[in-house]
Amino acid sequence: MVNVSKDAAGTRLALVTGGGGGIGAAVCRELAQSGYRVVVSDLDAHRAAAVAAGLGAPHAAHAFDVSDEAAVENAFDDIERRHGPVAVLVSAAGLLLFQADGERPLIKNTTLDIWERSFAVNARGVFLCGRAYLRRREARPLAHGRVVTFTSVAAQLGGYRSSASYIAAKSAVLGLTKAMARESAHLGITVNGVAPGLIDTDMLRSTVTSSGALEAAARAIPLGRIGAAQDVAAAVRFLASEEAGYITGSIIDVNGGYRMQ
Ligand SMILES: NC(=O)c1ccc[n+]([C@@H]2O[C@H](COP(=O)([O-])OP(=O)(O)OC[C@H]3O[C@@H](n4cnc5c(N)ncnc54)[C@H](O)[C@@H]3O)[C@@H](O)[C@H]2O)c1
Repeated sequence: MVNVSKDAAGTRLALVTGGGGGIGAAVCRELAQSGYRVVVSDLDAHRAAAVAAGLGAPHAAHAFDVSDEAAVENAFDDIERRHGPVAVLVSAAGLLLFQADGERPLIKNTTLDIWERSFAVNARGVFLCGRAYLRRREARPLAHGRVVTFTSVAAQLGGYRSSASYIAAKSAVLGLTKAMARESAHLGITVNGVAPGLIDTDMLRSTVTSSGALEAAARAIPLGRIGAAQDVAAAVRFLASEEAGYITGSIIDVNGGYRMQ
């Protein structure tokens, strides 16, 4: 029988990777405000702890590296032992790497190290966390299971500001999201992604090489502004909700009209 996935207080548990980052932290706040109990996860333990402290009890932090297979499995075991089954997994951890001189690497200059590190976090990390979640929900089913992945407008457009390794890894997430959606549908779990456009976080600002570049970029966006982390968090909140239960294998664009399909 499928359990309703709520604890004694009627709260669903949400695990957010990259929860110490700009968008991830906004997702944590949004889900906490919507009544979820949130485990804020990040590679950076201090950032995760600061976000969890801002949310207050009963929310918690749990630092782990999404690219490390053993660390992911141990973290899921630990989190479920301490806090109960994860109902909602949000894979927001991401990494955009540059050359030593701060420029985005062209393919001809991309080292194998940059390629592998980009895939390790942006693609393998989503796979490892998704697999850990599905294994546990198959063993202990819950109603309204949800996975939300993070791809990017860079994957959809070929990217103007990011690098080939990032674009390719985020493209892998587009396919993985659909594969995961098919393989988990029998459990009543939906798997969807968000594809942010230009969102004002450290990651976006790391791509800015000249003054006025962001203002110029904003002028190319039909809604006339760079997005806020909260814009993305609202889409994640919807995909995590019970009312989004007939949506799976989809990607929601959150880009101000920058790319319309
Ligand atoms: N900001 C944008 O314009 C934009 C656009 C499209 C997609 N995205 C995607 O949105 C997501 C959130 O991005 P953001 O803008 O908040 O970036 P951010 O750099 O502010 O946050 C990313 C977080 O991921 C964490 N992280 C990195 N490697 C990790 C690892 N190995 N294990 C666990 N955590 C790790 C970082 O510590 C950081 O806190 C990312 O997946 C990013 O690729 C962002």
